[in-house]
Amino acid sequence: MAFPKHVRLFEMGARDGLQNESGPVIDTAIKVELINQLSDTGLTHIEAASFVSPKWVPQMGDASAVMAGITRKSGITYSALTPNLKGLEGAIAAGVDEVAVFGAASEAFTQKNINCSIKESLERFAPVIEMAKEHNIRVRGYVSTVMGCPYDGDIDPAQVAAVSRDLMDMGCYEISLGDTIGAGTPLKAKRMLEAVAKQVPVANLAAHFHDTYGQALANLYAVVEEGVAVIDASVAGLGGCPYAKGASGNVATEDVLYMLNGLGIETGVDLQKLAQTGHWITAQLGRSSGSKVALALGCK
Ligand code: HMG
Ligand code: MG
Repeated sequence: MAFPKHVRLFEMGARDGLQNESGPVIDTAIKVELINQLSDTGLTHIEAASFVSPKWVPQMGDASAVMAGITRKSGITYSALTPNLKGLEGAIAAGVDEVAVFGAASEAFTQKNINCSIKESLERFAPVIEMAKEHNIRVRGYVSTVMGCPYDGDIDPAQVAAVSRDLMDMGCYEISLGDTIGAGTPLKAKRMLEAVAKQVPVANLAAHFHDTYGQALANLYAVVEEGVAVIDASVAGLGGCPYAKGASGNVATEDVLYMLNGLGIETGVDLQKLAQTGHWITAQLGRSSGSKVALALGCK
C-alpha cells in the first residue's frame, strides 16, 4: 500500500484536549477563541464540544454555549460527542454539523466511561444514529482501547474489528480507532489495523492515537503506510480521557503535520498558525506547548 496523497486532520484539542483539564472549568470564552483560531489554520474538521453529562465531565458542561459562541467558517465541520439521545438533542439544538458516538473494544472501559456494557452501548447508539440520520447529520463512531485497556490490559484485535464493524453496519460513516492510553507500538498498530480492515474498508478508518508512551507518531506512520488517511490529533498535544487514568493527550497536531509535510502528504493546514494557536492555548492554561515541533519553531 502506498502513502495517501492527502490526509484529513481531525482536530481534537477543544474536546479531547480540554475535557481532561483538572482544576477549575475553563472559561467558555477561551474555548470559543481556541476554536476560532483553529478555524483559521486550514483545518476542515474540528471537534468542538461534548454533549455528555456535566456530572461525568464538568469541563464539557458548556457545550451549547461554546457552539453558540464560535464564529463558523464555511467549509469547516464542527462536531461533538453524543453518547445518547439527550446528548444528540442538545447537539441538534446547538446546530452541530456532525456528531459522534463512542464505544470501546473493552468491557471494563465501556463500563467506566459510559456506564454500560458493549452490547448495551450499541443498543443505546442505535436510536442516536437513526435520529441523526433523520436530521441529515453524519455520525462518526469511536472505538476506544484498540491497543490496550487501563482495566482489561491487552485487547484482541478481533474484538476491535467486531465493534468497528457493528458501528459501521449501524450507519456510522467513519470509525475512529482510539489508542486511548497510548500503549501501542507500530507492529501492534499494523496488526490491529489489518484485523479491522478485514471488516471495515481502510477508507472509512481514522487513527486516534494518544501519546502516553511517546509512540503515537511511529504508530501513525505505520497505519498511514497502510492507507489510513484520517488522523485525529490535538493542538499542543492537549488532553486525555478522564476515564483512562494516566492517559496523556492525543498526539500533537503540529507534530503530525510536520511529519506529513515531510512525507509530501497534503493537509491544507498551516503549521505556523497551528503552532501559534498551540502556544496561545497552553499559555492560557499556564504551561508550555506539548508539541515538540511547536517548541522547536518557537513563538513568533
Ligand atoms: P448515566 O449516569 O448512566 O446516565 O451516564 P443516566 O441516563 O442514568 O443519566 C444520569 C444523569 O445524567 C441524569 O441527570 C441525566 O439527565 C444526565 P440527573 O437526573 O442525575 O440530574 N445525562 C446527561 N446530561 C447531559 N447530557 C447528556 C446526558 N445524559 C444523561 N448527554 C452517560 C451515562 C453516557 C451520560 C455518562 O456516562 C457520560 O456522560 N459519560 C461521558 C464520559 C465521557 O465523556 N468520556 C470522555 C469522552 S470519550 C473519550 O475521550 C475517548 C475518545 O477520545 C477516543 C479514545 O481516545 O479512545 C473518544
Ligand atoms: Mg481520545
